[in-house]
Parts: sequence; structure tokens; C-alpha cells
Amino acid sequence: MIGRLNHVAIAVPDLTKATKIYHGVLGAEVSEPVPLPEHGVTTVFVNLPNTKIELLEPLGADSPIARFLERNSAGGIHHLCYEVDDILDARDKLVQQGMRALGGGEPKIGAHGKPVLFLHPKDFCGTLIEIEQV
Ligand code: CO
Repeated sequence: MIGRLNHVAIAVPDLTKATKIYHGVLGAEVSEPVPLPEHGVTTVFVNLPNTKIELLEPLGADSPIARFLERNSAGGIHHLCYEVDDILDARDKLVQQGMRALGGGEPKIGAHGKPVLFLHPKDFCGTLIEIEQV
């Protein structure tokens, strides 16, 4: 069902500092910060040869990553994103197997302009999973 690892998302308390680590220290190619108000985050995309890293900083008062950063003050891996060919078909197959889709189960347009859906971390080895139709 799942294809390539699209990205690993890392929640960070300070996007400027995190960008300096990935660009300045690790020498990776990084984007300008992209505010995504509908997702409550500002993102910097780190392009690696085989996948992407997304650095996420809270944006706005009720950012979905604010609570995560309260528990992980230095930041931490927030979710993994796997590619699927057909997001509704993937959702239906997952729900049939007892897995829980978040947000009412309806895909939203994600950071790359493609439909995404998040899956409950308790159903996936303690890891929040995003699926993205590519
Ligand atoms: Co993501």
C-alpha cells in the first residue's frame, strides 16, 4: 500500500536555529520558511537526495505542535509521511483493518499542495503517520 518515504517532520522550538543546523552545519539544501496558517506551522523544507526533512515551528495560538513541544522542549521527530497512489482507497483499507484516521478521516491539502491524512500514532507503533497522495 505505502510507497516512498516522502518526509520526516521534526518539530522545533526555533526555526532559525534549526535551519542553521541543517544548512550551516550539515550542509543541506533548505527552502525559505513557508507559513502554513491552516496547519498552524511554519515549515522549512530540507531537500536530501533520497527524501525530505520538514522542520516545523508552531504558528498561531493553537498550533497542533505546541503541546508536542511542551513535552519535547528541544524538539523531536513529530511524524513520518509515506506516499500512496490513492488516498481514499488507502484510508478505506486502513479503516477496514481497524486503524484510526484523524481529523474526521477527510483528507486535507498538505504542505506540498497534495491531499494528506494523518493516522493515529497508537495504531502505528507510537508514531504519528501522514499519508500523502502523489
Ligand atoms: Co508532514
